[in-house]
Amino acid sequence: MTRALVTGGAGFIGSHMVDLLVATGREVRVIDNLTSGDQRLRFLEAAGVGVDRLDIRDEASARLIEEFRPDEIYHFAAQMDVRRSVADPIYDAEVNVVGTLRVLGAAAKVGARVISASSGGCIYGEADPQRLPLDEQTPKNPDSPYGITKMVMEDYLRFYRETGGLSYANLALGNVYGPRQDPAGEAGVVAIFGLRLLKGEPCSIFGDGTQTRDYLFVGDVVEAFLAASSNGDGETFNIGTGIETSVNELYSRLAAICGVEADPEFKPARAGELHRSCLNSAKAGSILGWSPQKDLNRGLSETVEFLRSQV
Ligand SMILES: NC(=O)c1ccc[n+]([C@@H]2O[C@H](COP(=O)([O-])OP(=O)(O)OC[C@H]3O[C@@H](n4cnc5c(N)ncnc54)[C@H](O)[C@@H]3O)[C@@H](O)[C@H]2O)c1
Repeated sequence: MTRALVTGGAGFIGSHMVDLLVATGREVRVIDNLTSGDQRLRFLEAAGVGVDRLDIRDEASARLIEEFRPDEIYHFAAQMDVRRSVADPIYDAEVNVVGTLRVLGAAAKVGARVISASSGGCIYGEADPQRLPLDEQTPKNPDSPYGITKMVMEDYLRFYRETGGLSYANLALGNVYGPRQDPAGEAGVVAIFGLRLLKGEPCSIFGDGTQTRDYLFVGDVVEAFLAASSNGDGETFNIGTGIETSVNELYSRLAAICGVEADPEFKPARAGELHRSCLNSAKAGSILGWSPQKDLNRGLSETVEFLRSQV
């Protein structure tokens, strides 16, 4: 039986990954220190998967990897709040760089393949609009400590591959949305808007709402990780839909799904926010055989259904 370890498996994307891995018959273990909360533990319990409450920065995480000897490590654990990374770049680097090095070192030691989560929005920064949707040749120009740590993760992966024979694939994701996303966080505009609309509360748009993102359904994301468990060694793949959606458009679609007619409130733009972002996944299509399947409206409706069950 294939053994899979998921770091950050109690998180939004990680918990969906656990479900998919269990469904494919793998033996699954999770490392998570629950800094993003314990609200998704019930999904792991339902899947019959236990959580080792460890910090990836700690030696104990490396020891667990060496004991479990996974064939695959799905690496999601991260400090992923961009604004927190700006306020506290040291903590950000401790988790995203030092924590990642612990995982990679242990993975190389036991011969586990690593499939890691990077950010296609943050590593490229505000790219030349002529290049959109962005492919993997786009010059990297991260404009936050979070983006910098995700960029150097790729260099460390390559280092461990060259010196320790590590097998890996690194997936740079668009804006992931779907059931189980935390509506209380700073990120996750779909969950934030969806919950507020369902509660009849006003939604705020920062700036004029023309800023675009590539919104990708979480079910499609975990399929990409599964595809990357057996293909594309030593490569980074952009994982997105290739479709730009503005915040105004997103709000309109969500308001229609929730049956709300109210307009959003516009607030001053946030400093440093990307204006446009969108990813070209042709490489993932040809090497991983992956392409996004979920249409935005269907994905948003499923997310709203989930949020409704939480209200
Ligand atoms: N959600 C998105 O739109 C998006 C986009 C691009 C990349 N990513 C990347 O995907 C990954 C997962 O994101 P998510 O949205 O599921 O976030 P999330 O916060 O829901 O999940 C991250 C998990 O990691 C855990 N964690 C954090 N620090 C840890 C530590 N030091 N030790 C052990 N566990 C720790 C958290 O408790 C949480 O359960 C992250 O690496 C993130 O950078 C996410």
